[in-house]
Amino acid sequence: MAKHTIVLIPGDGIGPEVTNATKRVVSAAGLSVDWVELPAGAAAIEQGFDSVLPERTLAAIRAHKVALKGPVTTPVGKGFTSVNVQLRKKLNLYAAVRPVRSLAGVKTRYENVDMIIVRENTEGLYSGIENEVVPGVVTSMKVASEAACTRIARYAFRYATKRKRKKITVFHKANIMKLTDGMFLNSARKIYEDEYPNIEYEEVIIDAGCMKLVQNPDRMDVLLMENLYGDLVSDLCAGLVGGLGVVPGSNIGDDAAVFEAVHGSAPDIAGKGIANPLALVMTAEMMIHHIGEHAVGDKIRKGYDAVLADGAVKTKDLGGSATTDQFADAIIAKMG
Ligand code: NAI
Repeated sequence: MAKHTIVLIPGDGIGPEVTNATKRVVSAAGLSVDWVELPAGAAAIEQGFDSVLPERTLAAIRAHKVALKGPVTTPVGKGFTSVNVQLRKKLNLYAAVRPVRSLAGVKTRYENVDMIIVRENTEGLYSGIENEVVPGVVTSMKVASEAACTRIARYAFRYATKRKRKKITVFHKANIMKLTDGMFLNSARKIYEDEYPNIEYEEVIIDAGCMKLVQNPDRMDVLLMENLYGDLVSDLCAGLVGGLGVVPGSNIGDDAAVFEAVHGSAPDIAGKGIANPLALVMTAEMMIHHIGEHAVGDKIRKGYDAVLADGAVKTKDLGGSATTDQFADAIIAKMG
């Protein structure tokens, strides 16, 4: 196996705890890797960098193409622009891909959930263009460009085809936001009609879509949507399969990819050593497949599937009392 160089961003809150546990699982699975550890978020300022997204961190991701990232904290209603938003824009990581599936041993209301959320990652209301028009009146601009809408639609169809998925559902609100969501919808429809007519395709207004998700999540396959909807629906879908501790994610661009779980820095449990590392372990598994080391990825999956099926070692979010490290150790023990 060739040695891989991967940028590791521990992040804030539970970030260092779950990245450390994940690193141990990845090493035990046998990936040959040099980790280039660099900060982002509040951690960067604490380490003396002059920005929450240091140029050195960005340059390393550009150079090595792949990063595994813990969550970072974003101040609410004030302060700096989200590090995640900056990172996705600066590296043009236009596709957030988040697989959501039922896991044997994780008891939820649903079985057989197996869907992929593909979220446009660079535009929409996340453009951060906000203005105070006059005192007491503020606006936020939703941006949709035909190029970005077409790019994410083509990505979703290509992704679905490669993975032998059957259906793409676009969530939208083009009945109200006729221009922006209209652009998103028309771009997706055009890619379907012109390039992928053999995939089943449906358009669903997002409010009804959310109802369908909680009624019959197993009817959904690949979900395509713009930035903000993708953010909200990701957490909703995480709730269908056991919560934020079990949903991985990735941010993919043409030149680089940053792998991070859906969850945030979880300040309510940070520093206690009880966060579930599984979401980041699954994220690392995605990353390992991305770099072509499929046997290592499969080994990790075999390990955590066995731990979950066995049920003896679980973190608090899954109804157990294991620590982050105990859960990681259990995965390592089951990898064989
Ligand atoms: P959150 O995802 O951090 O936490 C929501 C709830 O889920 C909390 O009760 C938390 O304890 C629980 N949770 C999350 N991950 C868990 C895990 N691995 N194991 C067990 N329980 C887990 O969302 P919240 O509270 O809305 O945001 C906290 C901070 O994280 C904010 O500053 C937000 O901006 C940031 N954030 C960062 C993200 C990133 O860096 N990719 C993504 C989402 C939020």
